[in-house]
Amino acid sequence: MAKDKQTKAANQQWGGRFKIGPSKIMEHINVSIDFDKKLWMQDIKGSLAHAAMLADTKIISQKDSELIHQGLKQIETEIESNQFEFRRDLEDIHMNIEYHLSERIGEAGKRLHTARSRNDQVATDFRLWVRDNIDLTLASIESLMLALAERAKEYYNTPMPGFTHLQSAQPITFGHHLLAYVEMLSRDRTRLKDARKRLNECPLGAAALAGTSFPIDRHMTSKILKFDRPMNNSLDAVSDRDFALEYLSNLSILSMHLSRLSEEIVLWCSSPFSFIKLSDSFTTGSSIMPQKRNPDAAELVRAKTGRINGAYMSLLTVMKGLPLAYAKDMQEDKEQVFSASETILLCLNASEGMIKDLKAQKTTMQYWAGSGYSTATDLADWLVQNLKIPFRSAHHITGKLVSLAESKGKPLDQLSLKEMQRVEPKINETIFNVLSVEASIASKKSLGGTCPNNVLGQAKSWIKKLKKKQ
Ligand code: ARG
Repeated sequence: MAKDKQTKAANQQWGGRFKIGPSKIMEHINVSIDFDKKLWMQDIKGSLAHAAMLADTKIISQKDSELIHQGLKQIETEIESNQFEFRRDLEDIHMNIEYHLSERIGEAGKRLHTARSRNDQVATDFRLWVRDNIDLTLASIESLMLALAERAKEYYNTPMPGFTHLQSAQPITFGHHLLAYVEMLSRDRTRLKDARKRLNECPLGAAALAGTSFPIDRHMTSKILKFDRPMNNSLDAVSDRDFALEYLSNLSILSMHLSRLSEEIVLWCSSPFSFIKLSDSFTTGSSIMPQKRNPDAAELVRAKTGRINGAYMSLLTVMKGLPLAYAKDMQEDKEQVFSASETILLCLNASEGMIKDLKAQKTTMQYWAGSGYSTATDLADWLVQNLKIPFRSAHHITGKLVSLAESKGKPLDQLSLKEMQRVEPKINETIFNVLSVEASIASKKSLGGTCPNNVLGQAKSWIKKLKKKQ
């Protein structure tokens, strides 16, 4: 370990009773500016609202509030144009901005922190940041849903094998398969919208933990910052991070969905499957095997789920067992949330790119849709519907027919009527109407089933809803 050294001076923002600065190691473990500078925009917004409220309630003068406003706007411009110096000795984004403000406008700047603590300040900034990022995530989810629905419309009638246990089960359409993901994503979307509603209460004014003796107007700051209402309890306001956890848990479920989609893309691209092709834009080559085309983007989306789940677990562990109210442990909330947010946006965009890029290999899909006796259930259903045989017995008879076909090395529809009648004498030639892939798919007219008309209707209705942003 590097030898510990002393920093020179105590922090100018809180160092009144401190004679010397923190040791280098203390500074190193304590400083958060390297990552929490991401909150600069929210921090400025929060301070602008706070200063306006302080003037409105006559806690500070109108003149001071105007100076603060101008100073913060100037800092905003400097940060935007990369001219702001983020200082590690000032610990975090809150103290960096406040310090620079006082540097510029003097006394008035030092009044900004009246009736406020970094505890309610960071809780407010972070809620605003998560809220902004929920909105970005929602927009990316909607755009991926639209891409999936558009492709589903294109492939509403394209047969593919439907699997259970990754064994051919029953024929379905590719459009139906893609729309399954639209449904999953629509639940991710409502989950995030719910989380946004619960998050949208304002902690500002809770001060350090107990509230304040100043006659502040919490409704005013809450309104300026577009929160629905101020939070009820000052201890809760500064010390819970459930909004961030809810966001991370929603992202974990969402990334699990993206990971399943990616896994399917990887499988479908693999040559023994060859259900789809991705173009050069979404694949990479191998440095040794010239024939290779690897679906790296899909593999990475699949893998990045680990980071997002990890972020959720990490923050859950940080929060577990913390006594009320604020503790510095909570500073560990940010990197996890920032990383998960960035990752999910990348994964959503990459998934959208792959969905738009892929091309279905219709002939191969169609071939495999009929493999593995995938219409056996249709045969059993025919026995029930036409011969009034109870389903359990029909299942048994069909099993025997499958075994007969297997022993002769042919598909079900290649058995002769005679061969079938040896197993069940009442079978007639109309049975052949249900044994093709097309007939099987067309018969699944039940609500939510795979018949092409259902799929086309669903695809169109999603496209309409998504274009209207409902
Ligand atoms: N950087 C701190 C954080 O992110 C801000 C709050 C510090 N509060 C305190 N009482 N030391 O949590």
